[in-house]
Amino acid sequence: METKLISQPLARAEADAVAVVLFENEAAPAELKPAAAWLDELRASGEFTGKSGELAVLHQPQGFAAKRLAAVGGGKKKDFDFAALRRAVASTTRTLKQKGVKTLAWALSGDNTQGAAESAVEGAILGGFEPDYYKTSTKESKSLDGFHIIASSDGAQLESAIERGRILAEAQNFARDLANEPANRLTPTLLADRARAMAAEAGLECEVLDQDRMRQLGMGALLGVAQGSAEPPALIVVRYKPAGAPKSSDHLALVGKGVTFDTGGVSIKPADGMEKMKYDMSGGAAVLGAMRALAQLKPAIPVTALVPAVENMVGSKAQRPGDIVTSLDGKTIEVLNTDAEGRLILIDALTYAKRIGCTHLVDAATLTGAIVVALGNVNIGVFTNNDELLGRLMAAAKTEGEKAWHMPLDDDYKELLKSAFADLANIGGRWGGAVSAAWFLREFAGDTPWVHLDIAGTAWLDDAKPYMAKGPTGVCVRTFARLAMEW
Ligand code: BES
Ligand code: ZN
Ligand code: ZN
Repeated sequence: METKLISQPLARAEADAVAVVLFENEAAPAELKPAAAWLDELRASGEFTGKSGELAVLHQPQGFAAKRLAAVGGGKKKDFDFAALRRAVASTTRTLKQKGVKTLAWALSGDNTQGAAESAVEGAILGGFEPDYYKTSTKESKSLDGFHIIASSDGAQLESAIERGRILAEAQNFARDLANEPANRLTPTLLADRARAMAAEAGLECEVLDQDRMRQLGMGALLGVAQGSAEPPALIVVRYKPAGAPKSSDHLALVGKGVTFDTGGVSIKPADGMEKMKYDMSGGAAVLGAMRALAQLKPAIPVTALVPAVENMVGSKAQRPGDIVTSLDGKTIEVLNTDAEGRLILIDALTYAKRIGCTHLVDAATLTGAIVVALGNVNIGVFTNNDELLGRLMAAAKTEGEKAWHMPLDDDYKELLKSAFADLANIGGRWGGAVSAAWFLREFAGDTPWVHLDIAGTAWLDDAKPYMAKGPTGVCVRTFARLAMEW
């Protein structure tokens, strides 16, 4: 999709549709004067009050070059932040593309800011996403060809904001495509291939550690999970290095859970809903998406993405409950439940990240059903051992409009992971499951600043929203990119 800035009055913008946000109990902007009678009638009839979610479309509007004029409800003006703008653009895009609109011009009205332009472009690209890649009959699936921002001021600045929005949203859709791939078409090996291809295109380094290398290193926790599958595991490492001399010794690791399918292993999951477990690599997809964006946005800090990729299966060589594995870090783990596999692969990746010199660790994982019980599909669950890194992460999430909630990680929870026969058990019992899972990771982060994001509830949308298709959300891509850019 083409994105660009139009520095022309609204009335002269040529497009299949021009959209303008109207607020509750607020007069329409002056540029809409030629359509005043239509707007008055809309309001008088009660059909359009300016509430968020409302959309009214006028064909062949007198006094405008565009084919349609779309009035978009913005809700209360004081509540209309960048997140609301992003959603308004996304919903409008989704509705209008279905009606055959190919080019949409969006009037930025009063808020001609970079943040507004960036969010609007993100809304158009994210709203345009459809998880219909494998539907052979809807190949002509309707999409927008062009999204134009109409603004009066700040040309060069707005153009770079538009470009940033495009980079971030395309990276997020890249992650959504990966998360949506079924497990027969995205094995650990194929995920590594996709990472390599992305890195080559973006100009990043990519290295993939294979099973032999992991054995040499001693990644017993990761390998224990992988051994139940005929598909070999892969530890994908993608590196971004800023040009020029480093400003500090900080080096950010983005670690993403890459379980291409989670059957639960011998502690097998119920059949009902198991098909969704193809998205158990959404954390991995998110960190790869973030790297794709960072290659273009070029932050000042070195960033390394690590994706431990495995398939959690029930083959004859699968690990059994009660098995004891030795992690890369040397600690032994009693595997009481083979379905708690995410933490087992993540700890070896976190340990490896520290070994290769990463000073700050951030991980994203569809780790627990318990976080879905706690926070539903709205907030990411955030756990940390370091308030400063937490502050940076939460600020990045806020800027990007991704909701995140700081969860507790008191010492009292740590004892849940006691094992009678090994250093640690891989599960902590029924209650506080998201917290004990986080504690398990923390044991391996040690004193290195670390933030863990449990995205089991936020990486997948079960029911479509007006602004977003059902399926993978690509959560964390923008937050991670922002975190690195603001470092
Ligand atoms: N991939 C799941 C977590 C999950 C559950 C993601 C629901 C998305 C939706 C993870 O590997 C898992 O199975 N966790 C177990 C842990 C338990 C055995 C301690 C869980 O949450 O039930
Ligand atoms: Zn599992
Ligand atoms: Zn899992």
